[in-house]
Amino acid sequence: MRVLVAGRQGQLAQALCARLPRDGHAVVALGRPELDIADADGVARALDAARPDLVVNAAAYTAVDRAEDEPEAAFAVNRDGAANLARAAAAAGVPLLHLSTDYVFDGLKGAPYVETDAPNPLGIYGRSKAAGEAAVLAAHPRSLVLRTAWVCSATGANFMRTMLRLAAEREELRVVADQLGAPSFAEDLADAIAAMAPRLVAAPAGDAAFGIFHLTGAPHASWHGFAEAILAEAAARGHPRPRLLPITTGQYPTKARRPPDGRLDCARIARLHGIRPARWRGSLARCLDILLGPPRGEKEQAP
Ligand SMILES: NC(=O)c1ccc[n+]([C@@H]2O[C@H](COP(=O)([O-])OP(=O)(O)OC[C@H]3O[C@@H](n4cnc5c(N)ncnc54)[C@H](OP(=O)(O)O)[C@@H]3O)[C@@H](O)[C@H]2O)c1
Repeated sequence: MRVLVAGRQGQLAQALCARLPRDGHAVVALGRPELDIADADGVARALDAARPDLVVNAAAYTAVDRAEDEPEAAFAVNRDGAANLARAAAAAGVPLLHLSTDYVFDGLKGAPYVETDAPNPLGIYGRSKAAGEAAVLAAHPRSLVLRTAWVCSATGANFMRTMLRLAAEREELRVVADQLGAPSFAEDLADAIAAMAPRLVAAPAGDAAFGIFHLTGAPHASWHGFAEAILAEAAARGHPRPRLLPITTGQYPTKARRPPDGRLDCARIARLHGIRPARWRGSLARCLDILLGPPRGEKEQAP
């Protein structure tokens, strides 16, 4: 099959470009400047030219804090761009898989969110993504909205890479310990999307394959817990290991408010698509093998 991936340079788009060909799929990855998803005519032309069997929207305005100052820019991509892709995919008769986020929730539930929980975003980014989800589902009956969280990969701007950089620069790191979620590696999300793709292409409107699904890595963690794992795995590969101190959200003010507990319940995607959350610790280790090389002991033992 042919898969059009919007958002070519992004973490998830790059992982899809690496993963989908392994199942024999052709990938047409498009991003700015050749495809701006906020441009409805450009989106329609891109689908006409690419003639995909499936569209994946991995393009998004993801600068959570900057979005507070640029709501128009965030909504243009995350709501209007998503809607443009959904309309064009519906007109072409092909399914759409659209990525979304735990930031559509306020994080006050006190338990992992299920897909039927009502969104109540705290900031502009979350609001624009919630509006995008609604626009996609309204425009295209054959769409799947995949909410994930804390996306990391060996490329791109992400928490893991920030921790590695700061570990090399500082003797002490302070990381928020009272926000819960789950690291999700782009490669694991790409595996899940590859596994779902054939069914989405074959399924008619109204099939249980479509709708909203949650998928993150497992188990749940705090940012501090994730940082601890990153620093431990990196130190095993010879990277500097600073002291790590837990702090509260109040001690690390940011422009945008984040959900204190954005844990996503991933049972639905397991039930309806047979996909189970990947253990993120193993994915982290594989990612650090790429960035820093294998753990020192393993290298020494190698023949
Ligand atoms: N990163 C996270 O922690 C996280 C957490 C939860 C959910 N998600 C969701 O997961 C999806 C993938 O995230 P990611 O981390 O892979 O994102 P990312 O690395 O920030 O990449 C997003 C890509 O979208 C592109 N883009 C932005 N505006 C565009 C436009 N108007 N037209 C075409 N392309 C455009 C960006 O390109 P430019 O270089 O041109 O800006 C960038 O390459 C997104 O839907 C995001 O909301 C991410």
